[in-house]
Amino acid sequence: MNDLFSSLFSRPPVKIIRGDYYYDTDSDGDQFDEEDRDYWLGGRFRNTWHDKQHEGPVLKEIFDEVRRLFADVSAPFLEIACGPGMGLAPIILGSNPKLGCLATDACSIVIKSWLEYIDANLRGFNIGLSQFSVMDIPLVDGAFENVTSYIGVSSTRAGKEGQLKALKEIHRVLKDNGRFVAIESDGWKDVEAVKKVYASWDPPLWKPYDDEPGETWKEMFIKCGFEIESCDKSYYHKWDKSDNEFGRQAESVGIEIGDITTLYVLRKI
Ligand SMILES: C[S@@+](CC[C@H](N)C(=O)[O-])C[C@H]1O[C@@H](n2cnc3c(N)ncnc32)[C@H](O)[C@@H]1O
Repeated sequence: MNDLFSSLFSRPPVKIIRGDYYYDTDSDGDQFDEEDRDYWLGGRFRNTWHDKQHEGPVLKEIFDEVRRLFADVSAPFLEIACGPGMGLAPIILGSNPKLGCLATDACSIVIKSWLEYIDANLRGFNIGLSQFSVMDIPLVDGAFENVTSYIGVSSTRAGKEGQLKALKEIHRVLKDNGRFVAIESDGWKDVEAVKKVYASWDPPLWKPYDDEPGETWKEMFIKCGFEIESCDKSYYHKWDKSDNEFGRQAESVGIEIGDITTLYVLRKI
């Protein structure tokens, strides 16, 4: 990790690997393993990087809007819960390649695998990496002008409480008037299909749906101190093994599951 990012941390890491800060948060993230690492480095990372710059018509409008939002940005941004898809970073860096990005995830295998891939294939970019949970971000207040997420807050595993914790943390590490650009999940298209996949999951690693009607994203964003600048672009996202272990389970039992996702542009007030 370069000096640009290391000066933004508020507490020492538990471990430093090849200069990157690790905070021992594997239990908060997805339970990926070496098999996933091999799959990612065997082609998934390369495809991700390519597809997020050559998207099909369904995603084009939404990705073009993300590019437009970052066309004039020069300050580095923070990507939370970057996962095996690296979130919005490949979209943004594809059209603004000089921009610095600190890509983060709770899962150490995700971070170590991206380090390996970036070292071999993306050295021209300024991508820093760190392992931490978005529910407890080890960065100083006001560290970034922009934070990004692609199903990042939706991926936290502690229900609405966890999502609120994450949103408060994102708000804290944004500068005043900073922006949170997030594609987040508005919920399953077919909950009954999801319940069938869940029933087949042995052992279940986490619960992919909430039985309690709770606050909407808009209510949570406002509660955490954001103003909604826009949220008028949505699309259907089908889950598979490239998403996570639950997507893998759906694929293995042959049941299609997917959610509706929306691009939210939020301003810290
Ligand atoms: C479905 S992926 C999210 C999509 C991802 N942004 C992408 O573009 O591929 C889920 C990711 O969220 C991470 N995650 C889950 N809970 C987290 C948390 N509390 N903090 C940080 N990352 C988390 C997981 O480790 C996993 O890598």
